Amino acid sequence: MSKMTEFMGWVDARFPATKMWEDHLSKYYAPKNFNFWYYFGSLALMVLVLQIVTGIFLTMNYKPDAGMAFASVEYIMRDVNWGWLIRYMHSTGASFFFIVIYLHMFRGLMYGSFRKPRELVWIIGMLIYVALMAEAFMGYLLPWGQMSYWGAQVIISLFGAIPVVGQDLALWIRGDFVISDVTLNRFFAFHVIAVPMILLGLVVAHILALHEVGSNNPDGIEIKKNKDENGIPKDGIPFHPYYSVKDIVGVVVFLMLFSAVIFFAPEVGGWFLESNNFIPANPMKTPEHIAPLWYFTPFYAILRSVPDKFFGVMAMGAAIVVMFLLPWLDRGKVKSIRYRGGIYKMALAIFVVSFIALGYLGTQPATPVMTNFARLFSILYFAFFILMPWYTAIDKTKPVPERVTG
Ligand code: HEM
Repeated sequence: MSKMTEFMGWVDARFPATKMWEDHLSKYYAPKNFNFWYYFGSLALMVLVLQIVTGIFLTMNYKPDAGMAFASVEYIMRDVNWGWLIRYMHSTGASFFFIVIYLHMFRGLMYGSFRKPRELVWIIGMLIYVALMAEAFMGYLLPWGQMSYWGAQVIISLFGAIPVVGQDLALWIRGDFVISDVTLNRFFAFHVIAVPMILLGLVVAHILALHEVGSNNPDGIEIKKNKDENGIPKDGIPFHPYYSVKDIVGVVVFLMLFSAVIFFAPEVGGWFLESNNFIPANPMKTPEHIAPLWYFTPFYAILRSVPDKFFGVMAMGAAIVVMFLLPWLDRGKVKSIRYRGGIYKMALAIFVVSFIALGYLGTQPATPVMTNFARLFSILYFAFFILMPWYTAIDKTKPVPERVTG
């Protein structure tokens, strides 16, 4: 027996190292027909690690103090060796994280990955999404620029619209009557330690839940229903080495795009980092136009499309809550869009257009015309979910093959 085998035997008698390796990698059988859309889970994992690592290095020079925060970020950008790269990796990384997550979620909508038996994979994914939004929101206050300050001001004041407890709740979140050094300190604590820990825990739960039931695939077929004499799914291949190697292709392409943005257009004309945020926070001067970054703007547009502030907040909250309910709203006979009828395809297309349109409208000043468009797209957004039990039931589906196709 080699020294290595001997050592692993010693470890395995005390810790399930080989068992975990086999259960989740070398003997985890994934469907052999994964396509482009299946890159985004592993990419999300990589971006999460990238954000944590760059975040650790930023924290080494950042000062969570209302009097020093802005200058400390400028110091990182100008004086710290490679500080500009670390900062841009982190700020661009945040936007890329949401791009990856939105594509990952869209894949779920296309292939019915949220449906039985993967309801918990979806619910945990949604919890990750909410935690990620909190993480991005709190991170955005840290540079203490004009948009950091006023963006947080707008969003926290929304809690004030809740009857009876609203004002106290907003005060409790801020820790002060206005956004202040106290708010900055607590957001820092949440952004660098509390929420990342929650995210990591949820990601582990997400993957454990997925591996318990097995992955879905572009055909929406349960490969576990068709096993060979050894109990291995006939349409399954070991995750390692097949997909561990294939996922490297996704990583390389991702890093090429990521580098191109970081090195040539790190702010993407204000979409990834707003120009207003290069002006230090000034509590005495409200910017003319306040809008969150692009990944929040679909919900911001829904909020602004409702005339009453309280009902606006409720609509915004409902826009996220309905996504949790998806596994129980879909009554289609098949999972994958490949075998769905025209109605679901049309509904999904309208939903995607509405989401993107809302995202654009949320970045624009709320003129009457823009607000009416936002109302139309908000209605279409909710219609996708509310009418789903009906249109998925009447949709004419195609027969699903026994085995996965190419
Ligand atoms: C940090 C964030 C996330 C990470 C690291 C992550 C990671 C992963 C990984 C590694 C997989 C398996 C590979 C794949 O199918 O692409 C997966 C599958 C899945 N994820 Fe996520 N995920 C995240 C967020 C989300 C969110 C926000 C949702 C939805 C709300 C979601 C829903 C799903 C679903 C439904 C599957 C199963 C897909 C299938 O088998 O077809 N995930 N995730």
